[in-house]
Amino acid sequence: MLKIGHRGAKGYVAENTLASFQKAIELKVDGIELDVHLSSDGEIMVIHDETIDRTTSGNGLVKNFTSLELKQFGIPTLTEVLDLMNHHFFVNIELKSNDSVGKVITLIEKQVSEKNWNYNSFMISSFLWTDLEVVSQTNNQIKIGVLTEDSIEKALTFAREIKAFSINPYFKLLNSENVKLMHNEGFQIHTWTVNSPEDITFAKSLHVDAIISDFPDKI
Ligand code: G3P
Ligand code: CA
Repeated sequence: MLKIGHRGAKGYVAENTLASFQKAIELKVDGIELDVHLSSDGEIMVIHDETIDRTTSGNGLVKNFTSLELKQFGIPTLTEVLDLMNHHFFVNIELKSNDSVGKVITLIEKQVSEKNWNYNSFMISSFLWTDLEVVSQTNNQIKIGVLTEDSIEKALTFAREIKAFSINPYFKLLNSENVKLMHNEGFQIHTWTVNSPEDITFAKSLHVDAIISDFPDKI
């Protein structure tokens, strides 16, 4: 079972920053989860919200700033995070806006061909299922995680259609029956965001394949 640091190590250090991913490394995670949006000049930036308001001292939409400006607010590029992780970790890239899928696919292909990364180390996940369809039609070596916060059944149907690698459900949707169903069909289960000791014990008891947590050292 993989221990995945949510937005780095969000429970300890400001989310989706290089410091947070460094902290996740120190906590001995197996991998990290991060969120991406595009800058005005088309760079893949690691940030959860579509604006910079909540997590930086600035205001405005991510897509209205250049990558240089966003870096000055402490927002890293995906390339910078991957260089820090140095092909030793699993990286779950969550697409948050529907303009980034092509660039993320191309970046993964480049990391594999030029920087010693392996396809097994990457997953693209999203609640934007049409973008996951694009991944499956473009490069079938990239693992796809179907995110759901409300229906395992719908996620399972879609995962079958696009030959996804995993279903990534909110942990409260899980029970031993649906875990068995997903596993019997060959899908991994990467569940989120599991933080309290009780919830971690619950997720572990179901034998999921990965737990995504703000406190990955507690898993
Ligand atoms: O990857 C699962 C989880 O990160 C989805 O929720 O809002 O934290 O991106 P959120
Ligand atoms: Ca996320």
